[in-house]
Amino acid sequence: MTVFKSASSNPSSQNNIEERLQIQRLLEPSLVISTNAGNDVIKGLTQRPKTLPPRYFYDDRGSELFEQICELPEYYLTRTETKILQICASEIAEITGACEIVELGSGSSTKTRILLDAYYKQGLPLHYLPIDVSAGMLESSALSLLADYPSLQVYALAGTYELALSEIEPKELPNRMICFIGSTLGNLNPREYDVFLSQVKAALQVGEYFLLGVDLQKPKHILEAAYNDNQGVTAAFNLNMLEHLNWRFQGNFDTRQFEHWAFYNELEHQIEMHLKSKRSQTVELRTLKFNIDFEAGETIHTEISRKFDLNRIQQELKAKGLVPQKVWTDENQLFGLLLCQLQD
Ligand code: AVI
Repeated sequence: MTVFKSASSNPSSQNNIEERLQIQRLLEPSLVISTNAGNDVIKGLTQRPKTLPPRYFYDDRGSELFEQICELPEYYLTRTETKILQICASEIAEITGACEIVELGSGSSTKTRILLDAYYKQGLPLHYLPIDVSAGMLESSALSLLADYPSLQVYALAGTYELALSEIEPKELPNRMICFIGSTLGNLNPREYDVFLSQVKAALQVGEYFLLGVDLQKPKHILEAAYNDNQGVTAAFNLNMLEHLNWRFQGNFDTRQFEHWAFYNELEHQIEMHLKSKRSQTVELRTLKFNIDFEAGETIHTEISRKFDLNRIQQELKAKGLVPQKVWTDENQLFGLLLCQLQD
């Protein structure tokens, strides 16, 4: 682990941004993806049906496209969660009191500002611990937050959730809240979901909080529109995964020979995203010394996005000891926000 900026031991010099920022790099960025250097790609592409891990969506272009998705008229998730947060942030601050905010997959930290404002208005100290695989993104968003919040302390961790959750330093404030918003939980399969919740529990002490944002079950046409937008941004996001593999493993995927395919699986309550080969073709990933054959119409499964039942997820969380204290939703019950507390 390397620390490439260190916090001042003198918190009184609060206007100095450098002194209020600490970033720990738990893995070099290249290693975050190449720990098992392409083995996951070979494994996925030799399976039937073929699959690819969703983390390959997020190269620089993929992260940019995801930011654009969040602004799309059909993609109601980000807008709705933001509105809910605007309404309930002050209540969250009242419930938790002085609290360190740990955010998983913080990205550009846009929604974080709503929470920081609420804590600030109540005169509570502002300690923010963003966790993201992109050290660059962590630094740029931290610098912009530090410029806007003169009393904010940022302790950022660059690495996977798993590593970062096991590396968080003991807290300095009376309480801690791990935030996992944006419905990223929906991108985990049931086994990953169980492992993830165990990691969250292990990182919390009894009495501490877990703030979770989840997309809710709703009619198929609303969901399918959100993942098949008119401007084709989601299609570009999905296809960009192949460009990312080309770059990372010297591949020759021709994205014009694949198409985006997303639908709602009503039985499993999940959106499924695939890439469909338009013709029979062979693709090479040179660095991996790996050739892949596709039949016409063959698919690669790239993502699931699970949609939750608000009552059921509350019961599941409670059964795991993460007891919902307060639950908010919007007027159309599109999205849910749950503030849970770790209990014995
Ligand atoms: C990051 N995650 C919550 C998004 C989702 O809705 O599942 C990823 C995404 N995939 C296509 N559009 C957005």
